[in-house]
Amino acid sequence: MTDPVKSTQPKDALKKKSVEALTREEASEELARLAAEIAQHDVAYHQKDAPQISDAEYDFLRRRNELIEERFPKLVREDSPSKKIGAKPSGRFEKVKHTVPMLSLGNAFNDEEALKFDESVRKFLNVPDEDALAYVAEPKIDGLSASLRYEDGHFVLGATRGDGQEGENITLNLLTMQAIPREIKNAPEVLEVRGEVYMAKADFLALNAAQEKKGEKVFANPRNAAAGFLRQKDPANTARVPLGFFAYTWGAVSAPFAQTQWDALQKFSEWGFATNPDTALCQNMQEVLDAYRGIERQRASLEYDIDGVVYKVNRLDYQERLGFRSRTPRWATAHKFPAEQATTILEEIDIQVGRTGALTPVAKLQPVTVGGVVVSNATLHNEDEIARKDVRKGDTVVVQRAGDVIPQIVEVILSERKKGAKKFQPLEACPICGSHAVRDINANTGKEDAVRRCTGGLICPAQAVERLKHFVSRQALDIDGLGAKQIEAFFTDGLVKEPADIFTLEMRDKKSLTPLRNREGYGETSVRNLFAGINDRRAPDLARLIFALGIRHVGETTGRLLAQTYGSFEAFQIAAKKIAAGDQAATDELIAVDGIGGTVVAALGDFFVEQHNLEAVERLLAEISPQVAEKVQSDSPVSGKTVVFTGKLELMTRDEAKARASALGAKVSGSVSAKTDILVAGPGAGSKLTKAQELGIQTMTEEEWLTLIGTT
Ligand code: IVH
Repeated sequence: MTDPVKSTQPKDALKKKSVEALTREEASEELARLAAEIAQHDVAYHQKDAPQISDAEYDFLRRRNELIEERFPKLVREDSPSKKIGAKPSGRFEKVKHTVPMLSLGNAFNDEEALKFDESVRKFLNVPDEDALAYVAEPKIDGLSASLRYEDGHFVLGATRGDGQEGENITLNLLTMQAIPREIKNAPEVLEVRGEVYMAKADFLALNAAQEKKGEKVFANPRNAAAGFLRQKDPANTARVPLGFFAYTWGAVSAPFAQTQWDALQKFSEWGFATNPDTALCQNMQEVLDAYRGIERQRASLEYDIDGVVYKVNRLDYQERLGFRSRTPRWATAHKFPAEQATTILEEIDIQVGRTGALTPVAKLQPVTVGGVVVSNATLHNEDEIARKDVRKGDTVVVQRAGDVIPQIVEVILSERKKGAKKFQPLEACPICGSHAVRDINANTGKEDAVRRCTGGLICPAQAVERLKHFVSRQALDIDGLGAKQIEAFFTDGLVKEPADIFTLEMRDKKSLTPLRNREGYGETSVRNLFAGINDRRAPDLARLIFALGIRHVGETTGRLLAQTYGSFEAFQIAAKKIAAGDQAATDELIAVDGIGGTVVAALGDFFVEQHNLEAVERLLAEISPQVAEKVQSDSPVSGKTVVFTGKLELMTRDEAKARASALGAKVSGSVSAKTDILVAGPGAGSKLTKAQELGIQTMTEEEWLTLIGTT
């Protein structure tokens, strides 16, 4: 950071002003300052090898420059830093935005759910049961996914999955792996091969034995070990362990290279990638389920861990039509193996208070190994669940663990129950702040909520600290060096009480008589890294920021939808305040967005009606400049338009029509109003068509619609 003495200069106020608030003159002044400052840091870094600021602070300056230029394109200077290509310095891994997101998979936990998957695929595509629909069944490798980009056949970039939208550049680490071809022949100009990096079980055991001998960290399972070594700062460390790679899908490609999943896998193999030998091409669900059983039987004898079988629609034209939900493809699912179980003693039932005040009972267990991982906590969900299973302190219980989910209590072994074991009594007061804990009556159903909540709101420290943990969590602002543990400590010491405090921490620390560097567990470097991590988030991604606020019912997906709908934090806030004030137009506009319902809109209103929330948001905005969001396909002919489908659709199913329209940036609505832009009417269209005609809304046939969106 710059010398604190400088902060008294008058220009300092300008430095802190949000990009949206700058006048034209101020913007010009800021751009001049940034050009000079960035140039000076470039020299310090590249020529003198003596950087004066952290990478994160440097990135922040560049980002601010970019944002101002975006707002005032005419003010872009000749000597603008954005015109110079200077390798971005990075101590940590550089972030990589995935051109095609790396999504996860939906799950099926039994045959019935697997068959439902087939049903939903057929329904979406309108393929009747009598017609064949082939699938590829692939073992689901329990490793971590990576994306490998090839340009003109050369490996140029390798990335982790990260949050699916943005991963880390681990090219150098991947280059140490034998399993990754450097060059491939006869491939499309641009090709991103995706697959799983894993460590074989035998190599994992050998590694742990060696680590233990050296007194170094042992890993809980092969996946953690693979992840640990793949993300080593020094690639030489990655090279120390053998890692394998199976290719199974792809991201960006400049030209199609296959027509089926099966052929795509053959291509991967021709290009020199390993593909899983137990993959099967199945003509129907019977063959799919047979493949599942076959793979399950082999599970123990395989060299690597698998946790299920992935089913993928074989025809790629079908995959394309099926497309994606927000987080998972419609054309694939993971049929998981049954969870692993173990027996142990439940020592205590603790009550945890979440960020919305929900009281969650947690079972404290005598530590037990379940499927290779030591488990000492399990969720009990809520008090009804405890009553149903009649779980009591001291009971012998069966715990199960499936994949990454929190372990669960399956049942109590009643024959082992100790005499005098007492039934669990729900708490009537919050264990942290003592406020009343109640079960609300759900306004829609008239029934009692399953969840008991602390009514303490702002006065409950547990809620405040959980909100902060949520704010910095991986899916939210993802601040390096500031996790749950640090938040807990800073909160206890009164250093951080709300999100804005995180960003003023450095400034306050400079003046503090008890600076962080003197704290237990901290030193000059870790404090510098912590502030670098915080400063790195001064221009947060809009969707993440909205999610980070912790508004009820606004999860990651809704956060993204809101970001895409409003484009900027300012627009989002204006709309949310209108909704809070009962503005019908703003409310209707948001409800019209596909994927957003009344619950979310009500929750937004509830949040933005509270003065203390508004103030906390204002204080936060004084410290950060949220990025503007990319709207969904803003260049398609229907983006931003509100579309209604009515009547019988003959060329595509209704689900498919809606999904395609949303992907092109259109809002799909169920009813016709003055806001409707296009009505697509199939045969038998009735009152909606009449109403649209009355309102003078553009109406078209399904064919005309397909012509408009460019698929006939
Ligand atoms: S396909 C859009 N195929 O499972 C589809 N994933 O739970 C992307 N995985 O993130 C995934 N084996 O890390 C696919 N044969 C396979 C897989 C596989 C393992 C992992 C992958 C993915 C996760 C989803």
